[in-house]
Amino acid sequence: MTERLEPGEPNPTEVVAIDGPSGAGKSTVARQLAQRLGFAFLDTGAMYRAVTWHFLQCGSAPAECAAEPDGGQQRMRDALADARLDLRGGRLLLNGRDVTAHLRTREVESQVSAVSALSFVRAAMRDLQRGVAVAGPIVAEGRDMGSVVFPRARWKVFLDAAPSERARRRCQDFARQGRQVSENDVLEEILVRDRLDSTRSDAPLRQPADALYIDTTGLTTEVVVARLFAYVRPEADGLRQVAP
Ligand code: DC
Repeated sequence: MTERLEPGEPNPTEVVAIDGPSGAGKSTVARQLAQRLGFAFLDTGAMYRAVTWHFLQCGSAPAECAAEPDGGQQRMRDALADARLDLRGGRLLLNGRDVTAHLRTREVESQVSAVSALSFVRAAMRDLQRGVAVAGPIVAEGRDMGSVVFPRARWKVFLDAAPSERARRRCQDFARQGRQVSENDVLEEILVRDRLDSTRSDAPLRQPADALYIDTTGLTTEVVVARLFAYVRPEADGLRQVAP
């Protein structure tokens, strides 16, 4: 597996690193697991979504500046330099403003894979993520937690599920937000996102060789959380996060 830690870089190990494709149930499971363990929860997909939202606000999203000679690289770098992300108690603040409610729009969803493929964005997010873990034990979920950001994490998990089940779960999420979306459209979007996230050159979605693999198809959240709790708990006694 790719290991990007340079000498002297923080190397947190008190991390439950949960990776997997979209709709595998990572967020719900990771949040509940963190609560049971008393660890902080880090939703790294939300960080990429927040940066995407910020780019859209600045008119600098990849699709908006692709025609520029450098493909919009400089505009996006400038926009990133203007973005200060703070993670507090499960909320995401961008330049002091809580943007949690804006992260799951279709506009953001359509651009987030392209934004998260940008190496300068990934490098900035990686540093922030390691900084959070240095402050205390965390459950972190994303695509490259165990492979790149926390290669020495004490616990690594890869959550997967059949694409049709992932599409069904996503539709249920949308329905809870009052949005009616066809399951077939969602399935298509999921397959496109899987392909983009797994084939990009920087930190593609990969199952770390030392990760516990769980196929969550047909399993309830409670069952998955219980399984992970049993995996982490024996070594987690005495570790507790001070609330950020
Ligand atoms: O988990 P999610 O659907 O909220 O993630 C949104 C996007 O961000 C997804 O297309 C993949 C990307 N992502 C990433 O590249 N690396 C991460 N650690 C987390 C998410």
